[in-house]
Amino acid sequence: MNKALRKAVIAGNWKMNKTPSEAKALITELKPLVANADCDVVICVPYVDLQVALEETAGSNIHVGAENCHWAESGAFTGEVAAPMLKEMGVEYVVIGHSERRQYFGETDDTVRDRTRAALDNGLKVILCVGETLEQREKNITFETIAIQTKIALTGVSEAELDNVIIAYEPVWAIGTGKTATDEQANEVNHFIRTLIADLYSKEAADKFVVQYGGSMNAGNAEGLVAQEDIDGGLIGGASLKPADFAKIVEAASK
Ligand code: 13P
Repeated sequence: MNKALRKAVIAGNWKMNKTPSEAKALITELKPLVANADCDVVICVPYVDLQVALEETAGSNIHVGAENCHWAESGAFTGEVAAPMLKEMGVEYVVIGHSERRQYFGETDDTVRDRTRAALDNGLKVILCVGETLEQREKNITFETIAIQTKIALTGVSEAELDNVIIAYEPVWAIGTGKTATDEQANEVNHFIRTLIADLYSKEAADKFVVQYGGSMNAGNAEGLVAQEDIDGGLIGGASLKPADFAKIVEAASK
């Protein structure tokens, strides 16, 4: 497995934070701080911030993503947003299957698969989130959990389509808790995900496949995490709302 074959992706997940005017201010501050990044920089923002994010990042090296999309092309789904809507706006990435959606909004492995399908069919790049709960880790079923989530989400996804998929390993117990997986714990699961990709597709596909880590990644611990062989960047919540901290993580991934 060759880390040099992969370009790290540092993606912010703003979650339900920042009004459009606050988003504009944050991006204005962030832009110069990450202008020399040697990794891909993405901000995934609330739907209502997408327009301003696209305008403010135009001509910069910051890519814009949404935090979810529906599985249908259109229809009677009040309150939802469809992949073609995001595509037409110019949105490039979409987070699918975040644990907060699984935990609070009834997201299942099947709906994650369907949303992934819709995103890929509409030319969006998917940041697919997988991760075990504390209970699952303590019951020693971390790998089984990750395998089930990954296999179901990728059902029907071809090897060519895999170019537009990133997996973010986000242990649920490490999200927003300040508890980070150790470098070794994170790398162990990221490596497992890569071997799954090799089994499901090919070693070639696995070698170039980007697997991020997410869960309390910050300016202080990012360097150790992203230096791991199988950790190709991160999906960052809290620290992505602080431009200087997010820029430090981008810098760590650029080394
Ligand atoms: P925190 O970085 O706030 O722990 O959130 C991680 C996350 O859920 C990113 O998607």
